Parts: sequence; C-alpha cells; structure tokens
Amino acid sequence: MRLVATATIHPGEVLGQTIYRDNGTILLHNGIPLTERLINRLVEQGISYVYIEDEATKDIVVQPVISEKLRHDATSSMMRLFSSIRDSKLKTNSFVLDEESTNLTDIINRMMDEVNGHEESITLLTDIYLTDDYIFQHSLNVAIYSLAIGSQLKLNAKELAELGTGAILHDIGKVFINPDILQKPERLTDEEFSIMKSHTTKGYDLLRNNHTYSSVVAHCAYQHHERINGSGYPRGLKGEDIHLYAQIIGVADVFDAVTSNRVYRKALLPHEGLELLYSSAVNQFNIPIVEAFKNSVAVYPNGISVELSDKRKGVVVSQNKHTCDRPNIRILRDVNGDVEPYTVDLSIELNVVIIDCDLA
Ligand SMILES: [Fe+2]
Repeated sequence: MRLVATATIHPGEVLGQTIYRDNGTILLHNGIPLTERLINRLVEQGISYVYIEDEATKDIVVQPVISEKLRHDATSSMMRLFSSIRDSKLKTNSFVLDEESTNLTDIINRMMDEVNGHEESITLLTDIYLTDDYIFQHSLNVAIYSLAIGSQLKLNAKELAELGTGAILHDIGKVFINPDILQKPERLTDEEFSIMKSHTTKGYDLLRNNHTYSSVVAHCAYQHHERINGSGYPRGLKGEDIHLYAQIIGVADVFDAVTSNRVYRKALLPHEGLELLYSSAVNQFNIPIVEAFKNSVAVYPNGISVELSDKRKGVVVSQNKHTCDRPNIRILRDVNGDVEPYTVDLSIELNVVIIDCDLA
C-alpha cells in the first residue's frame, strides 16, 4: 500500500483501506477501484490522503492497532451509552453509566491487551471515518494513544485501566451540547465557544455522580483541556495541578484532532502533528509526555513516500519499534534516477535523515 494525496489519485486506482462511517458501518471497502465520482466525493469530504494499492508497494501493509471486532464492540458500547444518556428522563443520568460500565471495563481490558501486544509503533491512518460527528472514533483513538503513552511512562495495569477509562469517556459531556455547535464547521462565536467548553464540567458532573468510576476518571473529563501554562479551560489550572492522566489525554486528543480528516481543514500527517505538539510543548504540554508519545507513534507510517538527506527517494516499508522516527525504507530512486529497489534501515544507517514526505 502507498499513502497518497486524495486529489492526485487517478480513476481506476485501487483503494487500500476501508473507509467507515462513525457508527462503524462500512462506506467504501478496501480493494475497490476508485472512480472519478468516488475520488471527488473523498476530496469533498475532506479526506486529505488515503492508502491505495500498487504493484511496487503491494507487500507493504499496516497492521491495525486494534482488531475490527474490538473497534466495533467499543463503538457500539459508546453509542449505547451516549444515546441512553440522551434519552434519560431522570435528573441524574448516572444509572445508565452503571448499565454500560461492565462492558466498558471489558473493552478497556481488551484494548490494553491489543495495544500492548501490537508489535509496531502506532498508526491510525488506516482508520478513516466519514462523518460530521466523529466523537466515537475520536474517543477510541484517544484511548489507544493514551494507553500507549501510559505504557511508555510505565504505568501499572490498574493505572492503565483507569487512564483508558478516563480517555474513552473524556468527551462524554458532549452528549449535553447541541450538535449544531459541535459540528459547526465555521469558527464558533464567543457564546457558542463557552457552551462548547462546558462539556468538561458537564462530563465531570455526570461521572462524579456515578460511583462506578473513580474520581480520577471524572477528572479526566474535567481537565483534559487544561494546559500547563494555564491557558486551558475550564479553570486555567497550571502544571502539576493538572492530573497526569488528563495531561496524557490532552496530548492524545490534540494529536488525533489535527491528524484526522475533517471537512473544514486538511489533516496533518503524523510528523506534522508531532511538530505541532513539540512547538507548543514548552508552554502547553509536558515534554516527557510528548516524548513518550513520540516513542509510541509511527512518525513516518508505512507506505508514505520520503526523501532522504542524501537525495535518495523511497517508501517506508516497516517500522523499528524503539526508533519510531527511523523506519525501514525501500529505496526506489537516487540522484541518477530509478534504481533496483533495496531496503535501508534508518535505525542502522545513522548518517541520513528523512527530510521530506511526498504524497503526490
Ligand atoms: Fe474535549
């Protein structure tokens, strides 16, 4: 598979990944040849890049971090939870959390096993969801990334379970926010923004009133938009006053938001998303958390075309687990033109670096 800019795809080229709706149903199956109409539709939906199959890279694969079954079960559980909270006529919605809590605990445990058992560094670029409201998949992705960061930071199993639960429920307060505000593509007015921001306190109140989850889980919902320099919300907490889990979830949340395809803006590639985190890390994020994240995510995912500092060009074939920014590259070209393909391992060839990614 090769990762390409959607706008550069030619009709007849074959889709290398399945594209889903937010509810987990399939919109486009991998393996289908793309028509002009489908390509235009992907562009219109804000899908910046997709995987396609081609001869030169047909052996390059991306292992999903979690199985399709787990993603489906997790999505269904989240959907049930959100809709029963919405439908709840009682003053307190906490009882519906109880009903779904056993399922959710099981899902977090399975997720911990699958994330821990995943050999390669993490890439979620294969998981494309088309929808205006992508809250379920976003919550799952944030949980996956948070668990990976937590493992890097050597949290124990109990701590990871708590972090994973806090992560999957971090935006649960959005169930109380008008969808027109949540899905508004244009800039929010001050009033709309303050309503949107209240998802943190609303989520906290909901979880705090429920005794199934610890107060730490409620604080993940409360504090995940706080930033260590005090610029976040709802309280403008600083530094260590923000719970470690909320800081981890904050990093995962921003990364998933900027690297996901949205109708109103272009998705960043993983190395660009990381650059953004690093450039704001000094002020907004805790550097060790960003470092831990960089050590678990595929900076240059399989199938992406890269240029090296010595002018050789190629495609990322596979990842090196402990050096996530130095994958294995199949060289296809050098300064003299096309070459017989061969692989270089950037974790060994330390004198070259990746200087550019090319999706054309
Ligand atoms: Fe949020």
